[in-house]
Order: sequence, then C-alpha cells, then structure tokens
Amino acid sequence: MKSVVIAKPGELVIEERALPEPAAGEVRIKIAYASICGSDVHIWHGHNPFARYPRVIGHEFFGVIEAAGPGVEASRVGERVAVDPVVSCGHCYPCSVGRPNVCSELQVIGVHRDGGFSDYAVVPARNAYVVPPSIPDKLASLIEPFTIAANICAFLKPVPDDVALIFGAGPMGLTAIQALKGVFNVRNVIVADRLPERLTMAQENGADTVLDNSEIPLAAQLEGVKPTLIIDAACHPAILAEAVALASPAARIGLLGFSGEPCTVTQQSLTSKELSLFTSRLNSHRFPQVIEWMEKRLIQPEKLVTHYLPLSEVEAAMTLFEKDPRSCCKVVLKVS
Ligand code: NAI
Ligand code: MN
Ligand code: ZN
Repeated sequence: MKSVVIAKPGELVIEERALPEPAAGEVRIKIAYASICGSDVHIWHGHNPFARYPRVIGHEFFGVIEAAGPGVEASRVGERVAVDPVVSCGHCYPCSVGRPNVCSELQVIGVHRDGGFSDYAVVPARNAYVVPPSIPDKLASLIEPFTIAANICAFLKPVPDDVALIFGAGPMGLTAIQALKGVFNVRNVIVADRLPERLTMAQENGADTVLDNSEIPLAAQLEGVKPTLIIDAACHPAILAEAVALASPAARIGLLGFSGEPCTVTQQSLTSKELSLFTSRLNSHRFPQVIEWMEKRLIQPEKLVTHYLPLSEVEAAMTLFEKDPRSCCKVVLKVS
C-alpha cells in the first residue's frame, strides 16, 4: 500500500508499506477520502510538539472496513466509517469523567500513531463510526473538524440570544459559525479576520456580520456591542486579552490555541466581569452528534471544501493549503 510518511521534520515521502494487520480490537479500513488539517502541515514542518517520526499523517479520514481483528464482530466488515482520532485508555481520571480527549495516555491517530493519508489504516474498532448513506463519501472526512466545534460548544452552551464573536475564519472558525447558526440558532454571529477572502467564506458559512480587523481594531468597529460568547479560532496569544476587553460581563470565552507563548491578562479584567474561560482539545465522543447534525443538514460541510486532489499530489496540496489561505480552505484528498 502507499502511505504518506513524514520521515522526519521537513521530509514528506510517499512510501510503499506492507498492508497492516488489525490487532485485537482493531479494524483495517480501506481509505476513500482524507482531508488536510493545519496540524498535518505542522507535523511535516516539525512544529507539532506531540508528533513522533516517522509518521503516517492524517487524522480526518473516511473509508470502508475491510478486515476485523480478533474480538471484533466480523459483521463490521463492509461498514462505511469515519474515524475518531482520539484513542484513550478508558480508566484514567479524564477518561473516567468522560474526557478521553485529554486521557493521560492520549494517542491521536495521525500524530502519535499512524494515520489516514494512506491506502489503508488500522484503528481501534470503537473509533470507527458508521456513516449513514445520506452523508456522501467525499464529505465524510469533514465530520472530524466539526467535532472540534461540537466540543467547544458543549462547554459554551450557546443560546439564540447570544451575541457571538468568532476570531478567525479558517476551517475552525467556519465550523464554529455553522454550529452556532445551524445547530444552536444563535441570531447574531460576528466574525473577525484579516483576510477579505476568508470573511467572504465566513458570510457564505452563515456569519451575520464580518469585520476586517487588519487595520481598525475590533473595539472601534463593534460600536459598543458586547459579545456574550467569544470563540478564539485564530489562536494568536494576544487575542485573549482583546476578547476579555470586548466581552460582556458574564460572557463565556472559548480557547482552541496551542501557542507556547504567554497570554497576558489581569485577574481584574476577568473577575470584574465574572468571565468564564473554557478550553477545548479535539473532541470527547462527539462523532455521533456531528453525524446527526450532518444527517439533518443542520451543517453544510461542502461549504468548507475548496479543493479535491488525489493522494498522489499530497505535497502540492499541503503547500497550497499552507501558502494560499485566500483561495484554499479545506482540501480533500481522494485516496481510492
Ligand atoms: P487557519 O490558520 O486556517 O485560520 C486562522 C484564521 O485566523 C486565518 O484566516 C487568519 O487570517 C485569522 N487570524 C489570524 N490572526 C487573527 C486576528 N488577530 N484576528 C482575527 N483573525 C485572525 O487555522 P484553522 O485550521 O482554522 O485553525 C485555527 C486554530 O485552531 C489553529 O491555531 C489550530 O492550532 C487550532 N486548532 C485547535 C484545535 C483544538 O482542538 N483545540 C483543533 C484544530 C485546530
Ligand atoms: Mn483536524
Ligand atoms: Zn485515559
């Protein structure tokens, strides 16, 4: 089989590898589609602190179960499945409180273990979720990015009367817009980005107001509107202090970033408004929820996709994804 391997930071190769055998509790999936995420690019460039090399990348993928390992029902062969990349131990403290995404032995498929930019992958059977026929093959790899929005929304508990502000209209911001509008019926979703093309995408994905903050700060553009729910999907460390300053008293702020640089906020700025800060990493068992959202057409994954390319063009596809955020949002790789 062919696999996209980051041999070491900076070195991407398409390698011929032996067909992997599913171990106990695992299934082998013949992969049909996989989508590119910023973290794949980070692993390629050596900027992901969790990655170990060599690594088959890709954590957003869809395919058909082709073989079942010991202990897995043979009837699962033939299922169309999307794969939750979060592999957890099931018994540590975070697992015991329903937070497998921060398991003390967390293994992320495509980061800590081999992923889906490959003809085949072996994954724990319980991570493979059946995709109903109403979700087409070419969109099923997008379930995973929407689970990020589902997870942060589970903390933020959006309501229709919220005034929401989203920083960043990349894939993460766009999934958040779609969830806030389509699932939670938030009436007023404001989105800030520095790129006009990304703001156009935000509008197409349902934003009510878009603001270009490349020159004029948001405080001047919001004209006294105080967001009650803020999501930082741009993840620059300076954004937290800005969000805190803009927030309404009693607002909730959701953070998604992984920067190692400090964010500078005072206790006074947080406590005087009694702000709630939530962080969210990957997802905790949110695949069934997102699959339901897609089945009911509450969200439109096709609005994120700007390119379909074959797996053989993965390096060009990842370069386009990285270098051209004005024309490129989600790239879906056709594997087979
Ligand atoms: P992206 O880079 O495509 O999008 C970020 C957007 O923010 C860009 O359109 C950029 O122009 C905009 N931006 C940058 N600075 C800004 C500012 N000060 N104000 C407004 N907009 C600004 O990235 P993507 O894929 O959407 O991911 C966003 C972030 O989410 C990344 O930092 C990534 O690490 C993080 N992430 C976190 C996850 C989690 O589970 N916690 C999962 C996936 C991504
Ligand atoms: Mn992703
Ligand atoms: Zn655990």
